[in-house]
Amino acid sequence: MNLILLGPPGAGKGTQARRLVEGRGMVQLSTGDMLRAAQASGSEMGRRAAEVMARGELVSDAIVIGLIEERLRLGTGAGAIFDGFPRTLAQADALGALLGRLGQRLDAVVAMQVDDAALVDRISGRFTCGACGEVWHDRTRPTAVPGVCDACGSTDLRRRADDNADSLRQRLMEYYKKTAPLIGYYHALGLLRPVDGLASVEAVGAAVDAALATP
Ligand code: AP5
Repeated sequence: MNLILLGPPGAGKGTQARRLVEGRGMVQLSTGDMLRAAQASGSEMGRRAAEVMARGELVSDAIVIGLIEERLRLGTGAGAIFDGFPRTLAQADALGALLGRLGQRLDAVVAMQVDDAALVDRISGRFTCGACGEVWHDRTRPTAVPGVCDACGSTDLRRRADDNADSLRQRLMEYYKKTAPLIGYYHALGLLRPVDGLASVEAVGAAVDAALATP
């Protein structure tokens, strides 16, 4: 099964993707994580992408499509979870063509619906484990011991450079202008599965499972 988790910044895409990886052995393909890895590697592409990301704008279609193409060619086992990709109509067209060339198809697009006020709260309280990637939140999902990741014991807990008010405003604008039109695109293809992203992590997970069980 190949699925897209579609939603604005902070909707919970990464949180649910990790759950699906653990529960179903699927592979998470997060273009945001790939771009942050490119930045950490010190490559010229990563450095230029980091500047764009810090402003809350979208990185060019050519770069992210190239990253996804490269990763898909390595194989995706039980299936791919596209997290943060596609984000434009050009990326959506490219994904359909890429999967077609590999003899695969897209099975579902889970659209996570969350209002803007909740997004601000989620983004401003988020921190992530630099060692295992687990996502936490100051209020709704704190670690048991402050400063220590429950999942792996690391003390390398980080906040993202683009999780600030100015960048978030721009990220939301980019989402509504360029990514929200994908909701209509995938509705027209009969793939859209809307889910209430405002519920608890567990309840959203159950709704995602139910949406994926829908033929
Ligand atoms: P990316 O890394 O994809 O970030 P994003 O889309 O802005 O999404 P986030 O990772 O911020 O949020 P999320 O939905 O994964 O939420 P999370 O699960 O962490 O992209 C970053 C940048 O890279 C972009 O701005 C762009 O510049 C560039 N980029 C990436 N892909 C691109 C592409 N395809 N094209 C062009 N540019 C691209 O949850 C957030 C918080 O809420 C956490 O603290 C979590 O614990 C909490 N939480 C989650 N679910 C719940 C719940 N149900 N209840 C309560 N709290 C919850």
